[in-house]
Parts: sequence; structure tokens; C-alpha cells
Amino acid sequence: MVSLTFEKAASSAPGKVILFGEHFVVYDKPAIVSAINLRARVEAWRYGRSGVWIEYRMLVDHPSTKAVEYILEKTGFMSGIRLKILSKIPASVGLGSSASVSVASAASASLISLGRIDRELVEKAALEGEKIVHINPSGIDTTIAICGGTGIYRRSRGFNPIDIPLKKILIIDTGKTRRTGEMVNRVREFSEKNKDRFREILSREEELINDVLDAFKSLDLEKLGKLMLVNQSLLREVGVSSLEIEEAIKLALDAGAYGAKLTGAGGGGCIICLADEDKIEKISKSISNKFKVYLTELSAEGLREEKI
Ligand code: PMV
Repeated sequence: MVSLTFEKAASSAPGKVILFGEHFVVYDKPAIVSAINLRARVEAWRYGRSGVWIEYRMLVDHPSTKAVEYILEKTGFMSGIRLKILSKIPASVGLGSSASVSVASAASASLISLGRIDRELVEKAALEGEKIVHINPSGIDTTIAICGGTGIYRRSRGFNPIDIPLKKILIIDTGKTRRTGEMVNRVREFSEKNKDRFREILSREEELINDVLDAFKSLDLEKLGKLMLVNQSLLREVGVSSLEIEEAIKLALDAGAYGAKLTGAGGGGCIICLADEDKIEKISKSISNKFKVYLTELSAEGLREEKI
């Protein structure tokens, strides 16, 4: 059988917001995550020189390099690969940009070396790429970048898609970048110093996710907003909030949001806020002179091949 491989290929994957449960998901608690309509596109070419090239440079510690090296190794592909990364997802602010770039890089390399996107292989490859940024990634970011939609993710059980009544969410970017690995370490330190309290926090978080699912069913935005604030208080307690996050949350609440919380690793980065559709414009206006605001669509499409 002649296998059809490509000289060039492209694919794209979405960014994400964690609606509830970041950090605690690292400890095998459930989290609710949704793909957003900001995407990373990666173009790839078969290349005359061996190894992985990003544009014309070899970047050893780049998530895409690691992800594509994994694909080359597992598929036994002999040539090199050159990548071009075009991402609309702001980096290092909690929207899953490195996972989307890793997934799209691995998928384009899979198209070149196998002639198709091997999703299982792409998932493993992207997780290798993520380890550079996350140290101990739960896998939530790479999973949602591949699957798209919205769902409950649990480390030991994987992804379970769900329908939610929310179509859009307001994201406020504090503009302060930070490293996910450092934030994950901060929570680990808290858990080691406060073992009993951390156990309580984890079980509170698990209960909270059940309450969130009930509130989704009854479309109770007010309750969802309150649950966001409870989730935020748990994240604050484990040390991953920041002055900018608290300020952005206060501005959103003062302007009429039902609730708000950090999303992703925290320490800066983005917050999400929940409000009635007719209030969103007012909230955006009152915040946009201080922070960047994006109104994004939720449940976006996952990994897909693109034309090149
Ligand atoms: O900030 P991000 O996009 O890297 O999201 C990190 C999510 C964490 O739960 C904090 C870590 C993880 O691996 O799940």
C-alpha cells in the first residue's frame, strides 16, 4: 500500500477557558472547560535539513519542537519539518495558547508524516510539548484543543462533552503574563504545608462542580455567578490570585456582573465574567480603559485540518 503523505500541511486548534476547577484538576478533581473562538494555526513543510525548524530557527525548548519531535520519532519520518505558527490566542494569560500551538504543530506534522491526523498520537505529542510550560500538566488544555466544545475533564477519566446554555463569555485580560509551572508549584507548596485544609478545599471544589451542573440545567445565572465567586475564593486561598485579578473582578461586579473568577493558572492573566447579555456592553466599557476585554464565543470547534 502506498501511503499518501504531504509536502505541506496546515491545521488549527482553539484556545480555551476553564469555567470552573483549574488547579484542582491537577489533583484529579473535575473541571469544566470550553473551547473559544480564538485559534492557533500551524503550517508545516517537509524540510531538507533534519530536525524541527520554527521558521528558520531550531528552538530546542519550544513546545512545538518537542511535540513534533515526538511525532517524527513515533512515525519514523526521516526528513526534517519546518513550521510557521500563526496564533490569535494571547500567550501566557491562561487561554491555553501553548497547548493549541502544540496540538496544531503535532497535527500538521502528523499530516506530513502519515498523510492523516492521528488524534491519539497528536494528544500524546502535544502533552510532551506542554511539559515544557506546565511541568505537571493535567492534560485539560491539550484535550480541549483537540476535542473542542465544552465538557467536564478529569485526569483519570478524560473528557466528557456537555451542553451548556452559555454561548458567549466576557474575558478580561489583566495583561500580566506569568508561567503556569510556577503557579502549579505554588499550589503544590500550599498543599504540602496545609494538608488537611487542602483536602477540604478539594472536596468543596468537587461539590461546587455538581452545583454548577445543576445551575446550568436550570439556567440560573445568578447562582452560577455566586459559584464563580466561591471558586475564586478557593483559588485565592491556595495563592494563585493577584492584585490585578482582584481589581478586574471588582470592576466587573461593580458594573453589574453576576460573578467573575480567574481562568487558567492565575497570578495575573485573564478573568472570566458572567453577566446578562444586555449588561455586557456596559461592563466592557467600564473595564476597557484599564484592561483588555474580549467577548468570545464558547464551545468552539476543536482541532481541524486547514487548507494551505
Ligand atoms: O494558564 P493555562 O492556560 O496554562 O492553564 C493551566 C491550567 C491548570 O489547571 C492551572 C494546570 C493544568 O495542567 O491543569
